[in-house]
Amino acid sequence: MKFLSKNVEETAEIASNFAKATLANPNFEKNRAIVVGLYGELGSGKTTFMKYLAKAFGIEETIQSPTYVIEKIYELKDKSFKHLIHIDTYRIEKDEEMINLGWQEIISDSKNLVCIEWPEKVSGIMPHHTVIKFEHAGENERKISIT
Ligand SMILES: Nc1ncnc2c1ncn2[C@@H]1O[C@H](COP(=O)(O)OP(=O)(O)OP(=O)(O)O)[C@@H](O)[C@H]1O
Ligand SMILES: [Mg+2]
Repeated sequence: MKFLSKNVEETAEIASNFAKATLANPNFEKNRAIVVGLYGELGSGKTTFMKYLAKAFGIEETIQSPTYVIEKIYELKDKSFKHLIHIDTYRIEKDEEMINLGWQEIISDSKNLVCIEWPEKVSGIMPHHTVIKFEHAGENERKISIT
């Protein structure tokens, strides 16, 4: 699916629809989380998308870029998922750093929805995942594709 977002509100709507679609398709894979890779250059809208994705899942606290904390885990009240996990690998240099974060456990729990900014930094340990690409198309316009 391809979208052209003209402003932050439209990105919010795309994120909200993605949340609904994810919830409408339960994860039947045993021992495998749903993993989403958020690709795109600095300021292309990855964290903004996450902020509204979390909101659509009923998370009320403000989502900040986890660039400095690497990982944030939000508890979900929804039955299909227990955790929304937001990881920003921008500062990660080696795949082992992800292993030390408990990556193997994180991606082995079918109740986790795991979203990674800069997945290309840790491509060696990324399992099969949904790809969301963000591209600048103007000051407030962003191309967003989901495959
Ligand atoms: N249509 C749009 N969709 C999303 N963000 C937009 C849009 N138009 C303008 N923006 C602005 O672009 C910026 C996107 O920043 P954001 O932190 O989401 O990017 P990022 O891809 O996470 O960057 P980084 O790689 O540094 O983590 C925000 O300041 C946001 O307000
Ligand atoms: Mg970001």
